[in-house]
Amino acid sequence: MTILGARPQFIKASMVSRALKTVGHTQEKVLHTGQHYDPSMSDIFFEELGLEAPQYNLGIGGGTHGQNTGRMIEGIESVLINEKPDWVLVYGDTNSTLAGSLAASKLSIPVAHVESGLRSFNRKMPEEINRVIVDHISSVHFTPTDLATKNLVREGIDHSSIRQTGDVMYDAALFFGGQSDGETSQVRDLISEKKPFALATIHRQENTEDIKKLENIIKSLEEIAEGMPVVWPVHPRIRGKVCTLKLRLIDPCGYIEMQKLIRHSKIVLTDSGGLQKEAFFHRVPCVTLRGETEWVELVDSGWNELVAPCNSGKIVDCVGRMMNSEHKREVGHWYGKGDAADKIASVLSR
Ligand code: UD1
Repeated sequence: MTILGARPQFIKASMVSRALKTVGHTQEKVLHTGQHYDPSMSDIFFEELGLEAPQYNLGIGGGTHGQNTGRMIEGIESVLINEKPDWVLVYGDTNSTLAGSLAASKLSIPVAHVESGLRSFNRKMPEEINRVIVDHISSVHFTPTDLATKNLVREGIDHSSIRQTGDVMYDAALFFGGQSDGETSQVRDLISEKKPFALATIHRQENTEDIKKLENIIKSLEEIAEGMPVVWPVHPRIRGKVCTLKLRLIDPCGYIEMQKLIRHSKIVLTDSGGLQKEAFFHRVPCVTLRGETEWVELVDSGWNELVAPCNSGKIVDCVGRMMNSEHKREVGHWYGKGDAADKIASVLSR
């Protein structure tokens, strides 16, 4: 049984579900916690990525971390007691990942964790707490990179439980990345203008709940917008907090549309984990608005630079530097060969 609930998990699961259908001995059922519930954050991904409608949708979105994680654990537990799956499959680092793996492990159902071993070493991030706990109660760890594997080994996780498969997000970018259907007029119009633009996304709690940081980010984006348009698909988390006429605020995008935006942008500014990599997959430089990242190889190779949003001037300087440092970037095969989902499905079926 796959347990998911947030936008990036729909993307990752679509690749693994597809692969699971091609291997024998495996039947997958899907439980959606309801963590992301706006149509633009959930339904659109099921439609465009070909994910089958989940057998269960708990409809648990909103509330504090404790409230929504607690309610999810309760709902997931009763489904697991009825369904008795052989394995539970979870993705990434969200509250749905935590709730799914806690409910399963207490029922002695083994958990397989996709995107295991990532660490920011910042325990103020709810996602970091989720990752550490989930990894330590999972039976099989599917890691995307060398560094993720090393992190697990350093924490004493048995090497025999780790399978370094590569990154399913890379599989998805190869599979869907070139497709062009599904774009809305907001993106079509923008791209047809053929002008350089910057693409921004902000949703992390550390940036959206600290008003000073959010102000710094908006101020820096407004300054960048004096040189080129800044397009920002706004996450529902901050829908009510952003008020500016200088930026091009748009609704959250579907996956295919987002890939198209990244591909056509000159630079990406983000605090998302997934977008940092997608920028690299499309060979676009990225400025990450955080003090640390889980995807260190992109910083080491010059594709990504970190700036904690404590000062708007530093963000603007960093964007200038990144747009003029093309010659310094090195391309590596850090995320596998695009067959991570096949490898995961084959391990699960065995
Ligand atoms: C969550 C994950 C994060 C992941 C991100 C992807 C956790 C702790 N964080 O962050 O790891 O990178 O998803 O997008 O699980 N909301 C809506 N409509 C929606 C979804 C959310 O209005 O469709 C509201 C919620 O009610 C809440 C806020 O937005 O008030 C934040 O949602 P939440 O699920 O906590 O986390 P994300 O910021 O999306």
